[in-house]
Amino acid sequence: MAKLIDGKVISAAVKEEVKAEVSALKQKGVTPGLAVIIVGEDPASKVYVANKEKACEASGMASFKYALPENTSEEELLALIQKLNNDSCVNGILCQLPLPRHLNEELIINSIVPEKDVDAFHPQNVGKIMIGNYDFLPCTPAGIMEMLKYENIDIEGKECVVIGRSNIVGKPMSMLLLHKNGTVTVCHSRTKNLKEVCKRADILVAAVGRANFVTADMVKPGAVVIDVGINRLENGKLCGDVNFAEVEPVASYITPVPGGVGPMTIATLMKNTVTAAKKQNNI
Ligand code: GUN
Repeated sequence: MAKLIDGKVISAAVKEEVKAEVSALKQKGVTPGLAVIIVGEDPASKVYVANKEKACEASGMASFKYALPENTSEEELLALIQKLNNDSCVNGILCQLPLPRHLNEELIINSIVPEKDVDAFHPQNVGKIMIGNYDFLPCTPAGIMEMLKYENIDIEGKECVVIGRSNIVGKPMSMLLLHKNGTVTVCHSRTKNLKEVCKRADILVAAVGRANFVTADMVKPGAVVIDVGINRLENGKLCGDVNFAEVEPVASYITPVPGGVGPMTIATLMKNTVTAAKKQNNI
């Protein structure tokens, strides 16, 4: 039976640290502020953004929410980002992805000044991560690293397999595992012998976006299994990329969905916003 890695408990510890830092910053006259932009009506994005807002407020930070209609033009969105770039009350800017199809995601991300890019999606921040000398880490991969650290799971020399190569999770995740001296393989839709490759993993990270994708026959006995997926089933229930019922008896550690990686993503976002506020105020 696997030990559950409880994202609620670990994120609560991170959020407590953030709260203390926010309080100390406020005494110096600085209130960290996060602006969150959401365009359109994607139901999952709405839930994520509401959770981010709630966490911001609970930590004592200022939160500025911009819910824009689906038909917002690129010019309008760029103008808003420009305004936020120049607003000293706003230390972090997050534009929730995915954006409606008529908006060029790359152009929008690139328009956020790197100093306020608390998602670490801007090419300048991505490049810094690649080199290993960074200001921010992307929230989900950094949250996963925090979970591994909390559970004293050693990465050095371990076989690490990441399923999924997105810019948000898969690619940066592989880089962070590499920085910790893991031997990293990134799998994707064209990978041959996926099952065999996954079965080599001491640490398996599933970021595919497909419900119950990872089955017991893909997991080495005793592996650490990290489930990044948040998929909604037809019955309305949330479900990860890992078939939890099958894999849990095989793994040594596993993250649940919900209550695993999700809360860690938000805690890291808070941390990044505090980092941004400190840097912008030379603290
Ligand atoms: N959509 C899914 N995950 C994320 C994230 O971490 N940041 C943003 N901006 N959008 C997302």
